[in-house]
Amino acid sequence: AESNVCIVGSMNMDLVVTTETMPQQGETVMGKDFSKNPGGKGANQAVAASRMGANVHFIGAVGDDTFGQTLLDNLTNEGIQTGGVEIIPEAATGTATIILSNQDNRIIVAPGANNGVTPELVERHRRLIAGSDVVLLQLEVPMETVVFSVEEAAKSGVPVILNPAPYQRLPDSVLQGVRWLTPNELEATELANDAPDETVREKWIVTRGAHGATFMENGQEKPVDGYTMKVNDTTGAGDTFNGALASALGVDASIDRAIQMANAAAALSVTKTGAQHGMPTKRQTEIFLQENH
Ligand code: RIB
Ligand code: NA
Repeated sequence: AESNVCIVGSMNMDLVVTTETMPQQGETVMGKDFSKNPGGKGANQAVAASRMGANVHFIGAVGDDTFGQTLLDNLTNEGIQTGGVEIIPEAATGTATIILSNQDNRIIVAPGANNGVTPELVERHRRLIAGSDVVLLQLEVPMETVVFSVEEAAKSGVPVILNPAPYQRLPDSVLQGVRWLTPNELEATELANDAPDETVREKWIVTRGAHGATFMENGQEKPVDGYTMKVNDTTGAGDTFNGALASALGVDASIDRAIQMANAAAALSVTKTGAQHGMPTKRQTEIFLQENH
């Protein structure tokens, strides 16, 4: 069976420059290559979920410009349903300026049209939430939209996975309303500070890069092994994990199995450049798991 995943989230054009040296304050350096790749945490997670076999509906926004058209076409080419994507005439499509060096990557997001993903916009497409098996959210659209989407999902009894990235403090209604939280290690530290309540920890799946992930079972932290890969570009690895997780949970996979699939998909994704380029299919992920257990 196919799972129905609804994602409310961001779409960005990633403007990536590779460099050997990061510029210091006030300094200009000569970099290497420039590329434009479709990105944005929401769209990345949608592509991952779709390649992992889910039927994906996306709710989001772009501006009325060439980046926006390219991003929309990209989702369509990935088999994602874009009826929930609106074009906002007065806004610029979101961008992420990414500086990539061997040691480091630094990202600045200019949200643009993603700020136009308002509760009203989501409300116009609420049937996509109601008709899904799982809703997947991140924090690159306004927090009030996240709050609203969690409420909408609750009305239909649809479980929500929230990837708290880029990290922001979460309102209580969100902490209580979501089924799963998927912070990385840094986000988990912040989340634990902001929301020390034990019930929050019970919902979290902490992603730990090459060390895999951990989740809570009967009050105990349970590890799921990761993989050591030849890393090319980790941009979008967390998004691959989340999309794959949603796809698996939507078809009622056990949480262990879902995290295993998500881990393996994320591991495969870092071997290729660009956020979406290296995301594997379900078949590729299953083969990788068979070869690496
Ligand atoms: O998680 C990676 C993504 O973060 C990039 O694609 C970029 O658009 C930023 O949103
Ligand atoms: Na990658």
